[in-house]
Amino acid sequence: MEAIKGLIQNQRGLNSVKPDYIVGFILLATAYFIIHSFFIEPNNIQVPYEHLTVKSSGKPIILVHLSDMHIKGWGELEEDVISKVKETNPDFIVITGDFVNHTKRIPLAAKFIDTLSRIAPVYGVMGNNDYTEVDTELLADELTKAGLKLLFNESFLITLLNGQSLNLVGIDDLKSAILGMDSALPSIVLAHSPDMITQLKEYPVDVLLSGHTHGGQICLPLIGPVITHTKLGRRYASGLFEFNGTYLYVNRGLGMSVLPARVLARPEIAVISVWPPVGKENNC
Ligand SMILES: [Fe+2]
Repeated sequence: MEAIKGLIQNQRGLNSVKPDYIVGFILLATAYFIIHSFFIEPNNIQVPYEHLTVKSSGKPIILVHLSDMHIKGWGELEEDVISKVKETNPDFIVITGDFVNHTKRIPLAAKFIDTLSRIAPVYGVMGNNDYTEVDTELLADELTKAGLKLLFNESFLITLLNGQSLNLVGIDDLKSAILGMDSALPSIVLAHSPDMITQLKEYPVDVLLSGHTHGGQICLPLIGPVITHTKLGRRYASGLFEFNGTYLYVNRGLGMSVLPARVLARPEIAVISVWPPVGKENNC
């Protein structure tokens, strides 16, 4: 009888300890989740490489695609971006908008462009935040002075050191931008929002590079991105897609807006290589 009483008391003791373990575990997991989302993942840059075959290309083109910096300071992330971009040795760099969220941060964005432009030529388009949250004219002036070639609804012919030429197009308004394109050359279009892909159907565009979605910024397991700001749907929040013969790359960007956190949506530097089809390489 005494033995049974002892067992009952032991069991009661265990039961009273159990909830403390559970609460402790939940607190620890929550603390880890917060630290990871606010301080670790936003600085953990991913560098995906995408290899695109474009029939009008005769020689390889290697570019770095950045987006949505929303630059707020100069620290670990900015230094890491610069050194990772340098490692990829690109022919040129493109930025698909949302440089800053506030006019007072324009000097930081200019410093960023100045540093990048010492690695390779930098081209870009404005994003929605660059139009609505800041002095756009001042931003455009300062970034241009720092070395950025801003494309406002225009097509720009680039010739690389290897002799390959291409059309680089920056758009807000499609028709006026695409007018100057040489359709015999590869065409890469920069537009902040991936929604532009739905308007490209009738144009000879090989690649559309965009951002804007931040990859959802906050993604939930099994559900995916919560908010994407694209009419294309959550499936198109980030990555490479093909629409009627045009590649679409949606970049998760480097910075954050609204909530300074990222969950399952790491910042990225995309390295895009555009190659001629096998057997069509022109090595002259
Ligand atoms: Fe953005």
